[in-house]
Amino acid sequence: PGTDEHRPPVRIERDGVVATVVIDRPKALNALSPDVLGAIADAFDALRSEADAVRGVIVVGEGGRAFVAGADIRSLSTLTPDEGAEAARLGHRVAAAIEAFPAPVIACVDGFALGGGLELALACDLIYATESSWFGQPEVRLGLIPGFGGTVRLPRAVGLSLAKELIFTGRRIDAATAESAGLVARRFGDRDALLAGARATIDEVAANAWTAVALAKRVLVDAAGTPTAAATEFEVAGFADAFRTDDMREGVAAFIEKREPEFSGR
Ligand code: CAA
Repeated sequence: PGTDEHRPPVRIERDGVVATVVIDRPKALNALSPDVLGAIADAFDALRSEADAVRGVIVVGEGGRAFVAGADIRSLSTLTPDEGAEAARLGHRVAAAIEAFPAPVIACVDGFALGGGLELALACDLIYATESSWFGQPEVRLGLIPGFGGTVRLPRAVGLSLAKELIFTGRRIDAATAESAGLVARRFGDRDALLAGARATIDEVAANAWTAVALAKRVLVDAAGTPTAAATEFEVAGFADAFRTDDMREGVAAFIEKREPEFSGR
């Protein structure tokens, strides 16, 4: 359900020095199933082999409603704690591939960037967004916690206080709020302006010394606080623990059955 037949869920478009990674699963609001995550990682691997020509990557969601509405809740619904840890690690592998990619990666958000979708955007170097975008970590509404890096990268992006408010409430913030919090680097009126703005930034980057840009990215990624690989292990353990709870089964079942959850606190 929710898959768009006859089309791969992720494709690469090339235009000069710019590569665009399109997540194309609009019927499920581009939710990140294991297949989609694997295809995003493969796309960055493929682009790495031609990294000399690629000076910047745009990541965008198809369909006009969502960047990515999260990890695929259906794929999570039956996992054991060990499988939950594996699911989190797959998301972290995608984020690591983006952070290790030598050229800047711009998440172009037009619509929902929720849960794993916000975490994917946070793994990119910068986030550009249209006015009609929404950002949040709604995992606790499902009995889950962020699993693709949100507990690590969201506090770095917006500060600990707002990060905790967003993660504890599951609340969504709009593009203007996200921009003033420093989560979004730049806001655009519509999708065309968003993509043109991202291309213009990459063209500006491409005019600079390539070696210096690549070095700056490496140092920025490495210097961003606690070593990411160590910090994300705390998250993997907590995400796996969520799969031991009744609340997670109830929260995920309620989403799939389109009803309000009844949490027991266990
Ligand atoms: N996983 C699987 N399917 C999803 C999905 C997700 N994360 N988000 C949306 N979909 C599907 C819906 O099930 C629906 O499919 P059907 O048409 O087959 O029923 C379709 O996409 C359209 O969604 P809605 O009908 O719900 O659209 P809406 O406009 O009423 O609501 C929304 C939009 C508010 C984004 C809502 O879809 C929503 O709340 N989605 C879930 C958001 C979420 O909880 N994300 C976190 C997931 S857990 C996670 O990401 C863990 C982690 O950190 C790794």
